[in-house]
Amino acid sequence: MQYRHLGHSGLQVSELSLGSWVTYHNQVDAAAAREMLAAAFDAGVNFFDNAEVYASGASETLMGAALRALKWPRLNYIVSTKFFWGLDDDGPAINRRNTLNRKYLMQAIDGSLQRFGLDFIDLIYCHRPDPFTPLEETVRAMSDIISQGKALYWGTSEWSADDIRSAWLLAERHHLHKPVVEQPQYHLFHRHRVEQEYAPLYEEIGLGLTTWSPLASGLLTGKYRQGVPTDSRGARPEMAFLAAGLRDAARNAAVGQLEAVAAELRCSVAQLAIAWAVKNPNVSSVITGASKLSQLQANLAAINVVERLTPEVLSRIDGLTAALAT
Ligand SMILES: NC(=O)c1ccc[n+]([C@@H]2O[C@H](COP(=O)([O-])OP(=O)(O)OC[C@H]3O[C@@H](n4cnc5c(N)ncnc54)[C@H](OP(=O)(O)O)[C@@H]3O)[C@@H](O)[C@H]2O)c1
Repeated sequence: MQYRHLGHSGLQVSELSLGSWVTYHNQVDAAAAREMLAAAFDAGVNFFDNAEVYASGASETLMGAALRALKWPRLNYIVSTKFFWGLDDDGPAINRRNTLNRKYLMQAIDGSLQRFGLDFIDLIYCHRPDPFTPLEETVRAMSDIISQGKALYWGTSEWSADDIRSAWLLAERHHLHKPVVEQPQYHLFHRHRVEQEYAPLYEEIGLGLTTWSPLASGLLTGKYRQGVPTDSRGARPEMAFLAAGLRDAARNAAVGQLEAVAAELRCSVAQLAIAWAVKNPNVSSVITGASKLSQLQANLAAINVVERLTPEVLSRIDGLTAALAT
């Protein structure tokens, strides 16, 4: 495993990381979470991604318990969480759902710390933009959370390049802690933001990237070519919004064609897809997901495929997928 700086920050993250969306609490219980965190850590993964909204807080609780059981030195791992949607518990949604207002953020961090059982969280993200809260209010709140020692770095997820730049400039002007990272979707079928829209920001403000869904939720494994497997994410009722995308005929056909390229590289299509995302030097860490230990082990081995992606291979992959990418 190699490590990359999170943008121009001093923090180094493993090229592959592991997240808990969908899986924790729903497909991965406490014992499996511990086993998979341990396997990832043993393979050199030092960054574990989470969010307040994942399993309505239960994902943070599970990860926190697993980290306590594993007893790793706190310096050796990086944990992140994200805020925006709020928790789906009882009570009125006003001021604490779909927002980045100061009141919500200052209380959300305390809730996350409690669920994780940690003194601080390494990296916190604004999980989506909030057009209804002044940017300065959000930037100041994120910076204050860091000044209070409750988090160490902050960033955004799925913000526009213009909003990221504005947030950075506001922080610069007011001597606040600046955002250092963005967390966008990035895979063979979803490329525009990372490759075009954010391109000026990598040098301009030293933006780092932790990218999500390298397998397009499993589409890039090839498992959806013959329909939706009953034990897959695509079959879960709460994931119905993914169903049409996972069954996309043209993309599934392209995945079928990628199999020949993968076979030549002596790897699976999933490993090829993950390695392809790692190959982008502007990506600090590719956040993988897995519902089973065997998936995680296979995905971690993608790191050995990166060097096999020569310009010639990359251009063949482009030829099969670029026209279908957004
Ligand atoms: N910031 C954001 O808005 C945002 C959004 C989404 C995700 N994320 C982060 O990114 C992480 C990764 O995203 P993701 O889970 O969507 O990643 P992904 O790699 O696109 O999908 C992972 C899923 O694909 C299936 N899979 C993985 N490896 C496989 C293999 N080798 N063979 C067969 N199936 C395999 C598993 O689902 P099944 O076994 O259920 O089919 C697994 O849970 C998340 O955990 C989260 O931390 C962030």
